[in-house]
Amino acid sequence: MPDRYDLPPGFRWGAATAAYQIEGAVAEDGRGPSVWDTFVARPGAVRDGHTGAVACDHYHRYPEDIELMRGLGLDGYRFSIAWPRIQPTGAGAVNPAGLAFYDRLVDALLDAGITPLPTLFHWDLPQALEDTGGWLDRDTAYRFAEYATVMADRLGDRIPTWITLNEPFVHTVFGYALGTHAPGRALMFEALPAAHHQLLGHGLAAAALHERGLAVMLSNNLTPVQPASASEPDLAAAAAYDTLHNRLFTDPVLLGRYPDLSVLGVPDDVYGAVRPGDLELIHTPGLDGLGVNYYNPTRIAAPTDPALPFDLVDIPDVPHTAFGWPVVPDGLRHLLVHLRDTYRAALPPLTITENGCSVDETATPDHPRIDYLATHLDALAQAAAEGVDVRGYYTWSLLDNFEWAEGYHQRFGLVHVDFATQRRTPKASYAWYRDLISAHRSGRER
Ligand code: FCB
Repeated sequence: MPDRYDLPPGFRWGAATAAYQIEGAVAEDGRGPSVWDTFVARPGAVRDGHTGAVACDHYHRYPEDIELMRGLGLDGYRFSIAWPRIQPTGAGAVNPAGLAFYDRLVDALLDAGITPLPTLFHWDLPQALEDTGGWLDRDTAYRFAEYATVMADRLGDRIPTWITLNEPFVHTVFGYALGTHAPGRALMFEALPAAHHQLLGHGLAAAALHERGLAVMLSNNLTPVQPASASEPDLAAAAAYDTLHNRLFTDPVLLGRYPDLSVLGVPDDVYGAVRPGDLELIHTPGLDGLGVNYYNPTRIAAPTDPALPFDLVDIPDVPHTAFGWPVVPDGLRHLLVHLRDTYRAALPPLTITENGCSVDETATPDHPRIDYLATHLDALAQAAAEGVDVRGYYTWSLLDNFEWAEGYHQRFGLVHVDFATQRRTPKASYAWYRDLISAHRSGRER
């Protein structure tokens, strides 16, 4: 095993959050409603009817949160910008108070010596755009590029690198195919035009960011796919799942083409969404870095329901997080090496833009989180030792926050948040991460 701290010079340590999960203040300073504000009001949509209306109240408490980041010694902070604060209806007039919030946040980060790494879209589409079809409507891609341009013109003087989208796979599948996330549409494979339009939005926004001299990343949720057995039907099912989860969202950007979608029963032109020239628009701007969000591998078996191309099955004999997600640290090494071997010269440098786990609040101190992070960082260092170009690690998450359909039940933070009082209390993993960053920085071995 390589030394866990034997990472490339300049390796960046960070933590990640997202706007709807932490900001609260959903009706303040001219913010328009997002699809998540609408979705949380649906009876039964979110566990115990929790909403992000207050969340961590980060909109007002960001100075305290930046002090927590400074205490960790972070190089970078990944956050997302709420599009409905900037353009309350997703198009046209810009809301000065929304821009001013991100100005203050960015300046306070820079004062603390922390590089801001914004994500332009982390699932909180302005509701007005959903009302005209959301990501199923091609026009949303063009609106996204306009919004990206507004942000780049405002903050590009202070922020060198931008992430366009967070996890278009999860947004498409949970939001549009299954309906377990906002906007709550259950279209199964007919959701895939939403994937194409997000990728098109990424390409148009990336071109605008590049014109302004800014670097561009895309954060994909990626998973190593394990066939449940070596049988032909299990292998075919695993290949179909890999196409849907990984390759559909990475091949167009890195290679300029879709994988063979017939394995999913989806037409090549994604139900008419793909128009001539689209793949050039998605591919040509190029990526300066690929953001990898890794939580767990996925085990796939042949379908029991013939209407579906695969079944998801549990990975036995490994620990599971409080969320029930399997803990397989070597999956991260495997994923990174596999990306390098698959995309070769087309693969830009990698950054882990999310990795972490939820731990039950009663587990005090939060040793399962320390174990999770330590073993995944070992796997990351191993991949680097095998020659993968990986430049940074942003753990999910700085704070306990609103975990989408699970509400406040899953606690992913290095910092505990008491949602009744908004009191922040650093956990054992906070001290552990702080010490790791400082040991790495001073080049000491531990
Ligand atoms: C990812 C999301 C992030 C968070 C983590 C646990 O899929 O990008 O917002 O919910 O999972």
